[in-house]
Amino acid sequence: MVKLIGKSKISCAVFISGRGTNLKSILKFSKKNTSKINIKLVISNRRNAHGLVFAKKNKINFKTISYKNIKKAEIQILKHLKKNKIKFIFLAGFMKILSKNFIKKFKNKIINIHPSLLPKYKGLNTYKRAINNREKFSGCTVHFVSEKLDSGKIILQKKVRIFKFDTAESLANRILLQENKLYPKAINKVLSKI
Ligand code: GAR
Repeated sequence: MVKLIGKSKISCAVFISGRGTNLKSILKFSKKNTSKINIKLVISNRRNAHGLVFAKKNKINFKTISYKNIKKAEIQILKHLKKNKIKFIFLAGFMKILSKNFIKKFKNKIINIHPSLLPKYKGLNTYKRAINNREKFSGCTVHFVSEKLDSGKIILQKKVRIFKFDTAESLANRILLQENKLYPKAINKVLSKI
């Protein structure tokens, strides 16, 4: 196996809005010698996002960006991405929609994780909708971000069984465990082709 260190790794950013368990798992993965990524920047649209503790603990540069004005927010974000020479962006529970213009600038370089088996249940409240529709399975999907919400090319998916006793919360917790494993695998899959 090839060992990658320091500058030979690809500079990446993770965007978050909250808890940050996916950020945590991506950070852990990035530290492996065989991983091609170096997380250089964390962007949060919320100053009190819990996930920022993982950026702090790992001494990763982080920026909180106010989204009162989307245009201004994206201009600021682009400035930070340029400064840190970011090549890939991983959305990890980032609950803001990126503009078409922004997505064009990072074509096929933005990856997202979504808590459903896309193309089913795009958008919000995925767990409740799957349970209400009496689905036998839900799960999670890692996909490229395209201009249409939750519709970009799928990289990897993981199925999770829905049980009769499941609530939105219990299902969300089980899916999250799979998300945390799936995201690094999907990143690896994309970057192994580069
Ligand atoms: C995850 O379940 C992720 O799939 C979801 O937000 C959660 C973030 O958890 N993302 C979306 O719903 C995006 N549409 P985390 O902050 O612990 O990574």
